[in-house]
Amino acid sequence: MHTFYIETFGCQMNAHDSEKVTGTLLTEGYSQVETPEQADLILYNTCSIRDKAEQKVFHRLQQFKKDAGKGKVFAVLGCVAQQEGEKIFERAPHVSLVAGSASYAKLPQMLVQLQAGNRRVTGLSFDAEETFETPFTRRDNPHRAYITIIEGCDKACAYCVVPFTRGPERSRTGESVLREAGELGRMGYTDIQLLGQNVNSYRDPSPAGWDFSRLLRAMGEVEGIRRVRFTTSHPRDFVKDIIDAIDDNPVLCNHVHLPVQSGSNAVLARMRRMYTRDDYMRRIDWMKNARRNISITSDIIVGFPGESEADFEATLSLLDTVEYDSVFSFKYSKRPNTSALELEDHIPEEEKSRRLAIVQERQRAIQIRRNAELVGTVEETMIEGFNQATGQWIGRTSQNRTLNFMHAAHPGPTEGETLTGSYLNVRVTRAGPNSLAGEAVN
Ligand code: SAH
Ligand code: SF4
Ligand code: F3S
Repeated sequence: MHTFYIETFGCQMNAHDSEKVTGTLLTEGYSQVETPEQADLILYNTCSIRDKAEQKVFHRLQQFKKDAGKGKVFAVLGCVAQQEGEKIFERAPHVSLVAGSASYAKLPQMLVQLQAGNRRVTGLSFDAEETFETPFTRRDNPHRAYITIIEGCDKACAYCVVPFTRGPERSRTGESVLREAGELGRMGYTDIQLLGQNVNSYRDPSPAGWDFSRLLRAMGEVEGIRRVRFTTSHPRDFVKDIIDAIDDNPVLCNHVHLPVQSGSNAVLARMRRMYTRDDYMRRIDWMKNARRNISITSDIIVGFPGESEADFEATLSLLDTVEYDSVFSFKYSKRPNTSALELEDHIPEEEKSRRLAIVQERQRAIQIRRNAELVGTVEETMIEGFNQATGQWIGRTSQNRTLNFMHAAHPGPTEGETLTGSYLNVRVTRAGPNSLAGEAVN
């Protein structure tokens, strides 16, 4: 068992976990291959946030049920692994390892068991007090890096599996976060994204006892780091000092993802979100009144049990009031173990689809308007790559917008020279619903 293939589903926390798992496997002497066919060990790092996401891993496993899987070892990691546990062995008997994210520190021992021929290895306990850190993380991108600052979630939103799949909250010490950031800065990384299901409830477990905004301010001082973002924020724990920190330090990106889920107080209460529309709007006002032009993005769930037409209208009116820069919207999906299963008045699938289409249409119009306001401005842009098909460089602004642009002096990457990873000022010349286009300024 010497080669491995890993496929990752779900959120950025999963993407970063896979970077840590990959680094651990490489250190254990495995080499990474690009296709499952070439691999001795196949790992799926799974997501369970909606039913569709959960089904993906079973489709994948299905493909290898017969001869195609001979001689291969299969591992299911991540949120479906934690949720389904040993039931996965019943459903897909060719799987040998089932492990949730709280157990990855034990990965080397689990690999030894697999190599010894054990066909039912599990890592499912939540007894880890510590967060999973490894010096071997193998990052996918040489310029932008993720750092997990808090794992798990102590909230109990009625629709959400995360508290069950990732366990209770555990924060890293500020000192270890800063040490990792400092190393990344010395290695040439310039862009850092702090990760957690609820970064606002970050609390340094060391005597220093830093809260999230204190950590943010310290992150803004790390040598070599030009941009710091964070996700996800929970409105209940979002304090004004976070906005003040962004105002005080240009390294902190002027973008906040603050998922609202619904514009209706009745639905918010049934979702157990622990804030009202007014509470939420107060936070939006802090951002709108900030010195910096902060872009605001959100998540919306439509068709939560009992969502009336009036509740739904309240969500639409919230979209109009806030004028988000971008929104991820989803149809409510029933999830195992969650308290929303007990609610009555589940909304028919067709109606959920109708509401989703309306939200997306409404938000699209808002984005066209918001993005058009940026035409003529000059934005500092981090270059992420080059699109051969369009002949444009692909950039990202501090506000997290994609800005594709032409560059007269550098029409494209040349042998041994690319602009990827560098920062350039770009004038916005055109705007669409999902991205901007422009020209580099000298
Ligand atoms: N911790 C973050 C995000 C969690 S998951 C937060 O608290 O906001 C990302 C998004 O998926 C959520 O914001 C929510 O909009 C969506 N989501 C979570 N559970 C869902 C479900 N059962 N059905 C539909 N969407 C869901
Ligand atoms: Fe899920 Fe709510 Fe925790 Fe976010 S805050 S991960 S939505 S339970
Ligand atoms: Fe999915 Fe787990 Fe992330 S359920 S969204 S991979 S925390």
